[in-house]
Amino acid sequence: MEQKTILDLKDAIEQRRAALSFRSEPIPEATLSEILRLGLMAPSGFNLQPWRFIVVREQENKEKLKACAFNQRQISEAPVVLICCGDRTVAKPEYIETIISMGKETGAVNDGYAGVMRQSIPQLFEYHPSFESIEAWTNRHTMLAVAHIMIVAKSLGVDSCPMEGFVAAQVKEIFQIPTEIDVCCLLPLGYATEPFKQYGGRFPSEQVCYSETYGQTLRL
Ligand SMILES: Cc1cc2nc3c(=O)[nH]c(=O)nc-3n(C[C@H](O)[C@H](O)[C@H](O)COP(=O)(O)O)c2cc1C
Repeated sequence: MEQKTILDLKDAIEQRRAALSFRSEPIPEATLSEILRLGLMAPSGFNLQPWRFIVVREQENKEKLKACAFNQRQISEAPVVLICCGDRTVAKPEYIETIISMGKETGAVNDGYAGVMRQSIPQLFEYHPSFESIEAWTNRHTMLAVAHIMIVAKSLGVDSCPMEGFVAAQVKEIFQIPTEIDVCCLLPLGYATEPFKQYGGRFPSEQVCYSETYGQTLRL
């Protein structure tokens, strides 16, 4: 069933706040499904899509997760919590082949580009000139998908709270997350209630955007 957006893109971006508390009202399955479908349309290097999400809805599991997250109340209150993970194993040949097959089916990958992927992806992970660690790479990608999910959710009337306040080793053990999977953030989803969070402000673009070289004033 098609989900109607409640807010357009601009309003969803402007009105999204990290929710401090949630009502117990569940998120309809169709809405959750659409949030995930659209969120997973985020871009990734070589279309490797290394994000993995554990959808936690059982209260008992949310309580366990809350205990790993310094008892932050959003976790047990929200009807859904995503454990947002990144997979460090995506440079394995068999995984690369799944991405090639997908791209061939849609017409995005031809034999020539498939060859480039087979050669370049393992090299990217061996030398990683653009990232310090594979964990930095999984985080880079997973958080992009998380950003998509938060904005899509808000456009469908669903609030969220990105969270880094948790002990990853505990989350991994309790939720049986393999060693080579990184836990990047937790994302409670639901319908916010009081106390509502006030807008905390943002730096103006002149302060954080530069022109041509770092530090040069940008005038728009
Ligand atoms: C990566 C990340 C981690 C965060 N971790 C937490 C957290 O553990 N607990 C929490 O209450 N808020 C957390 N926040 C929410 C921020 O405090 C919030 O986004 C920020 O103050 C700006 O407020 P706004 O999102 O409502 O505009 C986190 C946000 C991000 C992006």
